[in-house]
Amino acid sequence: MSLSIRNSGPFWRLQRRAARLNTALFQATKGRVGATFRGAPVLLLDHAGRRSGTVRTTPLIYLDDRPDLVVVASKGGSDTHPAWYLNLLAMPVTEVELPGGVRREVRPRPASSAERAALWPRLVAVYPPYADYAGRTEREIPVVILEPAACTTQRAIVQHGYGAADTVLSVSAAHPVEPPSPTQVRIRVHAASVNPIDWQMIEGHRRLLVKRRFPYVPLFDLAGVVTAAGTEVTRLQVGDRVHADNKIHGGGAGEYVNVEQELVSTIPPGLGFAEAAALPLAAQTALLAIDKAGIGGGSRVVVIGASGGVGTYAVQMAKALGAHITAVSSARNAGFVRSLGADDVVDYTTGRFDAALPAGSVDAVLDFVGGRAQWLAARTVLARGGRFVTISRDEDDRITLGSGLRVGAAILVRQARSRFGRRIAYIPVFLDASRTLLDRVDRMVSAGELKVHIDRTYGPALPDVLAALHHSKTGRTVGKIVVAVAPADTA
Ligand SMILES: NC(=O)c1ccc[n+]([C@@H]2O[C@H](COP(=O)([O-])OP(=O)(O)OC[C@H]3O[C@@H](n4cnc5c(N)ncnc54)[C@H](OP(=O)(O)O)[C@@H]3O)[C@@H](O)[C@H]2O)c1
Repeated sequence: MSLSIRNSGPFWRLQRRAARLNTALFQATKGRVGATFRGAPVLLLDHAGRRSGTVRTTPLIYLDDRPDLVVVASKGGSDTHPAWYLNLLAMPVTEVELPGGVRREVRPRPASSAERAALWPRLVAVYPPYADYAGRTEREIPVVILEPAACTTQRAIVQHGYGAADTVLSVSAAHPVEPPSPTQVRIRVHAASVNPIDWQMIEGHRRLLVKRRFPYVPLFDLAGVVTAAGTEVTRLQVGDRVHADNKIHGGGAGEYVNVEQELVSTIPPGLGFAEAAALPLAAQTALLAIDKAGIGGGSRVVVIGASGGVGTYAVQMAKALGAHITAVSSARNAGFVRSLGADDVVDYTTGRFDAALPAGSVDAVLDFVGGRAQWLAARTVLARGGRFVTISRDEDDRITLGSGLRVGAAILVRQARSRFGRRIAYIPVFLDASRTLLDRVDRMVSAGELKVHIDRTYGPALPDVLAALHHSKTGRTVGKIVVAVAPADTA
């Protein structure tokens, strides 16, 4: 807007004031790189727009830090359908500039009304500042979604066979991006977390039960943004911030992954992608164990492995239910598990935990470490009718035919014994992840009953992911290990 207007009437004075205000507002916002809205870094292009193809775009353009979801809005009003909008849509492919000067090819398409309704609240500002448009989608203000044009391939860490992670993982710059099936959503991964199952399956510990097809993208747990939805997906929309345990399908170490909608929950407000990625597998397992143990107000509960991924969630969940918790952990983590809600702590490094507790004094033992010794100790401290819930195997790390038979036989014998004597139930737990369980976890997070403790966050490069897997394999994780695939952000 020009400031060289000469007319001095009251109308023009007002115009000049408005012009100065607009200029100031524009200068305060233009070229703002790396600002955030709802946790996602954005780039605000300047008013004249960047040259893209043959078109000069005049509106403000808001970009996600990666171009899986980009919202372009006109300023509304008389130019609700300006030429730039039509020109932009006429281009099959155009280019945008991301923070850091990275340029990406994107494919513009008009948003559906449902998508517009979902995306509109994500705009931080509109220039000129037509504040009255905030939240008003009934005006059909055009929104263009820019999807990555080259969305047929992605950068991913892939596994080529079974073995030590540093020998079987490599980076693929062109791993295929498949279209989502009718019941799947495509998620742009922002963060993933590492669980022991990840390195166990990379090394082939479970290959007798589950055969992988290679190349395979590891990491079960992930959090990110929905960038496409199958035709039968009803509950999720493009732009939703979501997380999931994608079970044996993995995919957390890639840029994009398709996930069945029945595994996907919306991230609770206020939770960053790193924390969201740290929840699905471990917290659902903890919740399942709590359910199986029948824990309620006043229950006396022992949690073995209280400082690990599953244990930290179980302690908090049992606390929220009003249980009295004895945590079994090393002395080094005693303060930490108390901070989660444990009433007492027994140091497992000084001897079996049953030595520190009166016989028959406990209603439930949650075992997140495994091994025959835990079962033997639990039997002495459990009261009549008590429950021993274990998520872990016995001594066998690697499942072979022999070890499978041994574990199966041990489970059957222990379960048979529970019908006699003090009727102590032996309950093995195997997680079958679901949205229903994850939604329950998320409600606890929203209620302030469940917090995420991240031991360490690693970068997305291969050496970082290898270090994260190695960290998990040491068995010394305190809380969770996270791999931040996209730049860190918080909501
Ligand atoms: N069945 C299922 O569906 C299912 C689901 C999830 C996990 N799991 C299995 O459950 C196990 C635990 O998973 P996770 O994610 O919690 O593992 P994790 O995070 O790697 O657990 C590490 C923690 O365990 C503690 N710990 C190690 N030995 C201990 C002992 N003898 N007594 C008490 N604490 C001990 C360590 O504390 P210190 O450093 O102080 O020793 C560390 O904080 C793994 O074997 C995993 O494969 C099974």
